[in-house]
Amino acid sequence: MIEFNNVVKSYSVGNKALKGVSMQIEDGEFAFLVGPSGSGKSTIIKLITGELKPTSGTVHVNGYSLDRIRKREIPYMRRTVGVVFQDFRLIENKTVYENVAFVMRAIGAREREIRDRVPYVLELVGLDTKSRRHPGELSGGEQQRLAIARALVNNPSTIIADEPTGNLDPARSLEIMSLLMEINNLGTTMLVVTHARDLVERFPKRVIAIDEGLIISDGMDGYYHYEDQ
Ligand SMILES: Nc1ncnc2c1ncn2[C@@H]1O[C@H](COP(=O)(O)OP(=O)(O)OP(=O)(O)O)[C@@H](O)[C@H]1O
Ligand SMILES: [Mg+2]
Repeated sequence: MIEFNNVVKSYSVGNKALKGVSMQIEDGEFAFLVGPSGSGKSTIIKLITGELKPTSGTVHVNGYSLDRIRKREIPYMRRTVGVVFQDFRLIENKTVYENVAFVMRAIGAREREIRDRVPYVLELVGLDTKSRRHPGELSGGEQQRLAIARALVNNPSTIIADEPTGNLDPARSLEIMSLLMEINNLGTTMLVVTHARDLVERFPKRVIAIDEGLIISDGMDGYYHYEDQ
């Protein structure tokens, strides 16, 4: 579960990126996070991953209290959260397979587990036939799917995706969004940041809308108020 209680985040004195955000995302839930540029979406993501600490208020993620977490606990907390970055962050000189295996090795997984798990995850995202390619030999949508494979390989209970369809055409975007829904159906909590209003409106999911550091609407009807720039 992700829980924000009256979270304020200032990057500098007198300038609040978040002005008192309270929200709760239950285990297994799917939620979109939408809002104009500069409204605080990435700040919320960085608070969830522990990259930032709140100026005031509390953040709880999967049983960890992030405003009070000790440094040595952070790696354990991070294992519970998979992140899909907008810029993919793939390793260009490693194959598709090795890109995913690398994430497992980073947390000390055994080679045997890696040999079992990586093909399963690549199949799930539809990249099983491309495991020997390098990221530069993949299309944008395939690279995005590889980024998703990396986010989910360590079996996190939560996945956070920042603009996962950012650079994709409408058909590929729909495909990625459907894949995220499928992963959610397998039990993973999902928080998806997006500007793609048309996509959000296609899926009857919870939409949390933020503007100028405050939640302005939060509901299941897909309706939200925000002006895209
Ligand atoms: N490292 C930083 N130092 C100072 N101000 C920052 C920093 N990061 C973000 N901000 C400010 O905090 C506010 C929220 O930024 P944030 O990155 O969370 O917005 P966003 O909703 O993710 O926008 P975008 O859609 O453009 O990615 C903005 O006013 C931004 O200028
Ligand atoms: Mg952002």
